[in-house]
Amino acid sequence: METKIFKVNPENPEQNIINEAAEYIKNGELVAFPTETVYGLGADAFNPAAVLKIFAAKGRPQDNPLIVHIARHEDIYRVAAGVDLRVQKLMEKFWPGPLTLVLPRREELPGVVSAGLPTVAVRLPDHPVAVMLIEAAQTPIAAPSANRSGRPSPTSPEHVLDDLSGIIPVILAGGNCRVGVESTVLDLTVTPPVILRPGGITPEMLEEVIGEVRYFNAKDVDVPRAPGMKYPHYAPRAPVYLVKTPEEIWKRAQELGAAGKNVGLLISKETKEQYFPNYTPNLLVLGSKTDPSELLRNLYKKLREFDQRDVELILAEVYPEEGLYLALMNRLKKAAAGRYLS
Ligand code: TXA
Ligand code: MG
Repeated sequence: METKIFKVNPENPEQNIINEAAEYIKNGELVAFPTETVYGLGADAFNPAAVLKIFAAKGRPQDNPLIVHIARHEDIYRVAAGVDLRVQKLMEKFWPGPLTLVLPRREELPGVVSAGLPTVAVRLPDHPVAVMLIEAAQTPIAAPSANRSGRPSPTSPEHVLDDLSGIIPVILAGGNCRVGVESTVLDLTVTPPVILRPGGITPEMLEEVIGEVRYFNAKDVDVPRAPGMKYPHYAPRAPVYLVKTPEEIWKRAQELGAAGKNVGLLISKETKEQYFPNYTPNLLVLGSKTDPSELLRNLYKKLREFDQRDVELILAEVYPEEGLYLALMNRLKKAAAGRYLS
């Protein structure tokens, strides 16, 4: 299959291009499209055969449920039940935006979207291309991230092509994603609500609106988990190791270099300036330590960049696990499969 690239203006999308892409959705085909977080791989959420194509294209295990994307607040009632005052407050405050809500699923929504779970994950993305596509297709769109399963999520059209060229019919190419990691997933079917996946909306921001929320902890066996969390994720081809301090990164880089290893470094601007002021091959700067938004925006792009380089292993700097850095460390730990050096 040849993958068609529909170039679209991300700020002011051309309606005729959106309509053309929406035809594919209406015909039960897949369309990759930009959101503010990462690119999604979309299908008509009410067409089970189309939804199954998503799992096939990604190589995604069928027990991993998808997120349903809607274009207006009121469309939540088409897919979810249990829309109470808390949900209304959250929608009001954070939609459109990088927050996904897990709620009881309406029976009309095909179970395959939720991998058979009685719940559904739903969000309203903050991107004109995504919203216009959903509007034009006149149906909620089920969409996971548009990467092959296990790979870092795509934050540019090029990333989508790297993974899915020849496998999907269309990509709406609308520039780079602003947030750069996937949405926060909040499970509202339990009390207190539980963050299943940290993202651009932090626990503190949620608590300001609905009071206590818990952060998912793999050790809490009685808390239902996002099924996706058990799979390896976000991994570049070379193994990633987390290293606890900048000084330790410097030491390890010297040792491994002396042993003839091609080492990749993924570090902050500050650590580069302090420890690696001169040119160092395969050193990628993620951003400033003090700007978690910048670190998040660059993360998947930099992880993918290492695939273009001849590195045998990657040493990654760590950050405090709080606020926005929680999402960053969650993805870094998964990319490293939990491995720390030292
Ligand atoms: O920002 C995002 O959320 C992006 C863009 C495209 O919207 N989408 C995304 O989808 O990251 P995906 O499929 O890569 O991740 C969805 C996550 C998975 O961890 C999945 O297990 C969880 O949400 N999830 C989906 N439905 C669920 C449900 N009913 N209950 C619990 N977890 C659910
Ligand atoms: Mg994904």
